[in-house]
Amino acid sequence: MEIKVAKTAGFCFGVKRAVDQVYKQLEEHENVPIYTLGPIIHNEEVVRDMESKGVKVIQEDDISSLKEGIVIIRSHGIPKAVSDLLASQNVTVVDATCPFVKKIHRIVQEHSRKGEQIVIIGNSNHPEVQGILGWSETPAFVVQTPEEVEKLSLTPEKKLCIVAQTTFNYKKFQILVEKFRNMVYDIECVNTICNATQERQAEATQISAEVDAMLVIGGRNSSNTQKLFEICKKECKDTYYIQTLDDFDTRWITSRNKVGITAGASTPKKIIEEVQAKCQN
Ligand code: F3S
Repeated sequence: MEIKVAKTAGFCFGVKRAVDQVYKQLEEHENVPIYTLGPIIHNEEVVRDMESKGVKVIQEDDISSLKEGIVIIRSHGIPKAVSDLLASQNVTVVDATCPFVKKIHRIVQEHSRKGEQIVIIGNSNHPEVQGILGWSETPAFVVQTPEEVEKLSLTPEKKLCIVAQTTFNYKKFQILVEKFRNMVYDIECVNTICNATQERQAEATQISAEVDAMLVIGGRNSSNTQKLFEICKKECKDTYYIQTLDDFDTRWITSRNKVGITAGASTPKKIIEEVQAKCQN
């Protein structure tokens, strides 16, 4: 049996950087309390492993009662007000905000400071978007559908600065930007979509079109894993969802010649390797 594992399966650069940072802090600071502001990734096993080593997941409300320790900021980033609150506490802050997200914070801060209207194309409930919003010095707009764009009360003669949530769909982004071009003269549009997601999806499409069975590994509530599953299912009807190694029924792949494996952005390499090894056995 031939097994094809996607090169882009699993953690993207920013998530890997944040997870590695937690383990690094654990190694270097044995008796210091270590906190992550929100779960570091959408993967219960990884979060549980960190908790068993002493890492505590805290929320924004807990910050003001912190007396000491290290607080690690996850790759999604945080609003400026939360960053300022952390800085005012007696704690060490390890900022693992993905540099691609940090860049959006800088753009939004600079352009809002100049008095431009800020639009973030993305999901307003997502922590990354909430973080970005918090760097705008003027009230900013968040939209993700053409209908929402039409409802905005923009000032046509005022310059508009558009950015996107890093995981937003590029085609949808283009459609929305086109709409804005019909409403406002002066637009600065920065495509801040990160291609890690795009590359992972393109590779999943390509592999699932070539194999007899496709395995998609990731958390049930991870939206990017669900998306990967849908993409693969379109190309290969024998596509299966695996959360942990226990979900994997080897009957799915018996008498298959070619099996493909991919995984969502919060799936650790270890699980991918375990699934691969089980296929080989
Ligand atoms: Fe990951 Fe950073 Fe892109 S967290 S998806 S590499 S923006």
